[in-house]
Amino acid sequence: MKRPEAPVWWLGLVVCAWLLLAAHSAGAFPWSIDMFRGEAVQPLSEAPRNMPAGTLAINGVPPMSREVAAVTLHNPLKPTPAVLAAGKDLFDTNCAVCHNNDGRGGGPVGFLLRLPPADLTSGVAAQRSDGYIYATIRNGSIVMPGYGDAMSSHERWEVVLYVRSLQQQANAARAVPQQAGPIHPVPQKVSAK
Ligand code: HEC
Repeated sequence: MKRPEAPVWWLGLVVCAWLLLAAHSAGAFPWSIDMFRGEAVQPLSEAPRNMPAGTLAINGVPPMSREVAAVTLHNPLKPTPAVLAAGKDLFDTNCAVCHNNDGRGGGPVGFLLRLPPADLTSGVAAQRSDGYIYATIRNGSIVMPGYGDAMSSHERWEVVLYVRSLQQQANAARAVPQQAGPIHPVPQKVSAK
């Protein structure tokens, strides 16, 4: 390829410099601060607007630790089929990714966490009170995220009842002796202790 003559280079440079200068004087350069110089209201440059009445909820349950919730909050719902069905929907959508559909841990994203998702059907987790599970859903736990913004209070109680039904199912499954041969019907009622 033939190299362009020196004057052509110079002309190119001069045109570039001129374009830059023109862009700068037109306010188009540097573009990195365009958003800052725009029409936006700058932080605190105007007094905040008054909120219309009723914008902020004032009748919710005040924030509290799980330890306090564990003893002060009680489930207002009964485990009707409709409540359990709603709880199952919510659990499968929000919790099963970590705790698995059966609540026993080992959900598909559990491996990403520093602590394994708890088995909700056995050990300490199964001994927790309704209020404690409710507050765990609302506030989160050590590594578990809170779901306070994703579920209403009513929905959280529905999930609590569904977790209870998962615990009953797990207990029933554990009560059936693991053996070969004909499958015995799962007993309908199994005492917890
Ligand atoms: C991102 C993964 C993740 C999701 C989603 C998740 N959890 Fe957890 N959960 C954990 C982990 C991890 C633990 C154990 C470590 C901890 O306490 O943070 C746990 C612990 C718990 C505990 C036991 C707390 C205790 O101290 O005994 C309960 C109850 C619980 N989760 C319920 C739920 C419910 C109900 C949902 C759905 C609304 C849910 N979790 C969604 C990860 C998750």
